[in-house]
Amino acid sequence: MSTYRIAVIPGDGIGKEVVPASLEALEATAARFGLRLELTGFGFASAEYWQRHGTMLPDDWEATLRGFDAILFGAVGWPAVVPDHISLWGSLLRFRRTFDQYVNLRPCRLMPGVRSPLAGRAPGDIDFLVVRENTEGEYSSVGGRIFEGTERETVLQETVMTRVGVDRVLRYAYELADRRPKRHLTSATKSNGIAISMPYWDERVAAMGESFPGVRVDRFHIDALAAEFVLHPDRFDVVVASNLFGDILSDLGPACTGTLGIAPSANINPDRTAPSLFEPVHGSAPDIAGRGIANPIGQIWCASMMLEHLGHPAAAAHLLGAVEDVLALGPGEAPLTPDLHGTGTTAELGHAVAERVRER
Ligand code: NAD
Ligand code: IPM
Ligand code: MN
Repeated sequence: MSTYRIAVIPGDGIGKEVVPASLEALEATAARFGLRLELTGFGFASAEYWQRHGTMLPDDWEATLRGFDAILFGAVGWPAVVPDHISLWGSLLRFRRTFDQYVNLRPCRLMPGVRSPLAGRAPGDIDFLVVRENTEGEYSSVGGRIFEGTERETVLQETVMTRVGVDRVLRYAYELADRRPKRHLTSATKSNGIAISMPYWDERVAAMGESFPGVRVDRFHIDALAAEFVLHPDRFDVVVASNLFGDILSDLGPACTGTLGIAPSANINPDRTAPSLFEPVHGSAPDIAGRGIANPIGQIWCASMMLEHLGHPAAAAHLLGAVEDVLALGPGEAPLTPDLHGTGTTAELGHAVAERVRER
């Protein structure tokens, strides 16, 4: 029997609700496929930890987490207690960089039973993957403030694109597109306005394309691409984007598929030199936290992506199939949460998926 050590970090807000709700379905899937999971929970990377320790992470966090096969993460950020740039740069963004999780893979799929806010769209019409660069780009700590407090006060923040950093995420995106039936890659750019870094990105997209003659590539400026996501989401297969553009597209895509609450993400270290981290796209949602109504599907789908990454695609597909079965029942038959037009709770929906995992 294979054994996997999983670090479980709920974080803040609804992270503390959707993570527990996802574990029953994950454990039911593991039992079904003969996988042993050793789950170890951690309270760091949270506002509560910050209040107690004045830091987001313990000194030995890196050595501790390196010992795990994967990390299942909820959400971090509680701006009423700790400013977001401190909590995020002190935890999640540190994990991504330290563990070289340079691909952030974010599927956008219109699921059966879920209504898109876009008119006339049915399951099958929206099914694409955003590949987001995850360790550099617009998210850089290069810059600062000068002449502070004077009329010449100036703030600079640099975009950093390295050849290694750009090429490795592009290679991943091309390889992924090459394995899919449509073999279609879309690159997000803005080389008309951001005239130093983005032409470089475009150049590397073209250069990498020479190794993938079977992949059809197109390129959209990010503003036009945002409009295209809404007007023609059926035209996309794999979309590759820099860190910030990928961040924006990966909230917009799931919104087109009905709710941010079902969207998963995998922060992947493809070279497997450190653990990968699986977290929903959404944040801690302070506006609904504590009410037990957050949608746990994004977190459960993350567990499925984690099983896939650990080398168990059949288990991953079984878990995602259970999610689809439950969603397909609709709010009349299944305890769907309010974002899916139901009256179910986080725990009820998590439980319904776990039951379906056992039945199917
Ligand atoms: P958010 O994603 O937390 O919430 C945006 C909206 O989506 C809210 O109206 C929320 O209620 C709704 N929503 C999100 N997840 C939902 C779910 N599972 N079910 C139902 N509705 C859901 O974004 P925000 O409000 O901009 O950020 C809140 C905090 O979370 C901030 O501190 C932010 O920095 C942080 N954040 C963390 C992550 C992360 O940990 N990966 C991601 C995004 C935001
Ligand atoms: C995400 C989040 C994070 C990001 C924030 C919270 C720093 O929005 O995972 O999409 O921008 O990467
Ligand atoms: Mn985001």
